[in-house]
Amino acid sequence: MTPTPHLLATRSLSARYGDFQALFSVDFRIAAGEVVALIGANGAGKSTFLRALMGLLPVGRDMVLFEDQPVGGNPPHHMVQLGVAMVPEGRRLFAGMSVEDNLKVAIDHARKTGDKTWTLERIYRLFPILQEKRNAQVEKLSGGQQQMVAIGRALLAQPRLLLCDEISLGLAPKVIREIYEVLPEIARTGTSIVLVEQDVMLAQRASNRLYCMLEGHITLESTSSEVTRADIAQAYFGAGHEVA
Ligand SMILES: Nc1ncnc2c1ncn2[C@@H]1O[C@H](COP(=O)(O)OP(=O)(O)OP(=O)(O)O)[C@@H](O)[C@H]1O
Ligand SMILES: [Mg+2]
Repeated sequence: MTPTPHLLATRSLSARYGDFQALFSVDFRIAAGEVVALIGANGAGKSTFLRALMGLLPVGRDMVLFEDQPVGGNPPHHMVQLGVAMVPEGRRLFAGMSVEDNLKVAIDHARKTGDKTWTLERIYRLFPILQEKRNAQVEKLSGGQQQMVAIGRALLAQPRLLLCDEISLGLAPKVIREIYEVLPEIARTGTSIVLVEQDVMLAQRASNRLYCMLEGHITLESTSSEVTRADIAQAYFGAGHEVA
């Protein structure tokens, strides 16, 4: 049997909101255990791209391949069963529910697999503060703690591919470090991570490979350790951008 080169890939992925085209022929790939960053300015289409992968936007069947099988446009619950989970922009926790109940919801809807890599105990080891606060209502938590709940919840779905949408947004540097420190541990379990991030340096440091998106187009694809600031600036802001 030949090994699957990519866990997930997109082929000329396009997506629209009514008349507005938000993604144009996006070619993207991620291997098992790889951390891939997707950077780009506000409105570039990053969240739209993640939503398209998660089955939250109608896209052509052949535009998204999971282990070489066409899965574009599959409903979100099917994508979860394949092993795709998302930490959505803005966290989207269940207000009025405790930390632990928010986490347990994910267990109920997790991918059906014999091998439960992620347990409640392991999430609490990853983020000890959540164990301390397990009976608190989520809205009483700080922004960083809420982000930890959102990450824990996604992991309890037992993903093979974790989609993270701006998990550093609005958080203090110390909290961002705490959250980013767990990413290598997640990747070591073989889970791939797509990291949508506006902080370019953070994205570059945390990833193996990096894509930049501009107005729905991929403008850069590179190994993170090799990409230059000039390349990133041009891809981020568009051709003709002068780099000082
Ligand atoms: N539900 C929607 N209906 C119509 N247009 C939308 C919708 N959601 C997003 N858009 C548009 O699609 C484009 C891409 O938006 P998207 O949210 O994917 O950007 P983003 O890169 O995630 O930006 P940010 O960094 O601000 O989160 C934007 O021009 C946005 O206005
Ligand atoms: Mg977004």
